[in-house]
Amino acid sequence: MRPAIAYIHLDHLRYNYQVLASQADGAYMIAVVKADAYGHGLRWVAPVLWQEGCRYFAVTDAEEGMRLRDILTPQRSANILLLSGIFDEEDARYCVDAQLIPALTHEQQIAWLKAHHFAGGIWIKVNTGMHRLDADSPEKLLQCCDEASIQVIGIMSHLACADTPDHPLNVHQHDHFFTMYQRLLPTAQASLLNSAGLISPTGKHYDYVRTGIALYGSEPVVQKKLGLKPVMQLTGKVIQIHTLNPGDAISYGATFVAERPMQLAIVTLGYADGLPRALSNCGHAYCKGHYYPMVGRVCMDYCQLDCTNTPLAVGDCVEFWGGHLLADDIAMKLDTISYTLFTGVGERVHRQVVVSTQ
Ligand SMILES: Cc1ncc(COP(=O)(O)O)c(C=O)c1O
Repeated sequence: MRPAIAYIHLDHLRYNYQVLASQADGAYMIAVVKADAYGHGLRWVAPVLWQEGCRYFAVTDAEEGMRLRDILTPQRSANILLLSGIFDEEDARYCVDAQLIPALTHEQQIAWLKAHHFAGGIWIKVNTGMHRLDADSPEKLLQCCDEASIQVIGIMSHLACADTPDHPLNVHQHDHFFTMYQRLLPTAQASLLNSAGLISPTGKHYDYVRTGIALYGSEPVVQKKLGLKPVMQLTGKVIQIHTLNPGDAISYGATFVAERPMQLAIVTLGYADGLPRALSNCGHAYCKGHYYPMVGRVCMDYCQLDCTNTPLAVGDCVEFWGGHLLADDIAMKLDTISYTLFTGVGERVHRQVVVSTQ
């Protein structure tokens, strides 16, 4: 087996869930587990969250919903919400077969559900300032639901700038949501906050909060860190050590040339595994108390570490992100977000569950 492994620390997931639940001011948690639980492995993440008390899960579409229903077969009462709604009639059939709860944004979706005699409930998703996938006309959508006898159980919207707590759009979105909720569905359930919104709320929590990234240990609000624990630890193994002479070049493009005798470790993790190529000549890896600079370009299957000052040996396991190198810090350095790092971890990286570190 190629030793490229993402260790998934389930005890950290449990810890993060409880920390977030304690912040929720009585609101129920919807665990956002789309994109294979943000790359962490839905089949481990969802049952653990269920054990921690989570009863509402959100994925993006019906295929993810079917998969989750399968994983949670013993937990029949798990609620599975589809944040992107349904895309065609087949999705509507999946909703019926697997008791999925779509968040709807246009009338055509109601026709698809009706064609399959959908008897469950739906949410509607409204625009409060983000201008992404939302109902153009919530009034028309609600009227259609009424005519089709489809039960509307909730209204939701999504915050665009919750990770910047003093951004004026937060107050605007809160106000706008409150007005729409009062006007359209004052007796329905409501949900506005994502992880950052929960950690630094500008207004009401409503009935449900939809937490994604914070469950996995990223701190969505830099100004208000909660001490969340990283769930994913991405690692590779040293498989070769080279001795380089001054003038020797490393990897594609010869972008790094040794100026002195060097020890170079070749490690089994590359950009096809999700290690960003942008870390070439500027990233680090961690092993046994030391940080090693990445030298030369990150390749598809490998990267190279300078281990001249502190030796590495064949067989050493090195961390690329996890408890010693925070994905948030790496993301900031690369002008991206930890979401892209986690979801970018390739399928060929083995996920290995760690149940307890004690
Ligand atoms: C509609 C919706 N709600 C909630 C979330 C969870 O957001 P976060 O991961 O920032 O908590 C997302 C994530 O993209 C989303 O699209």
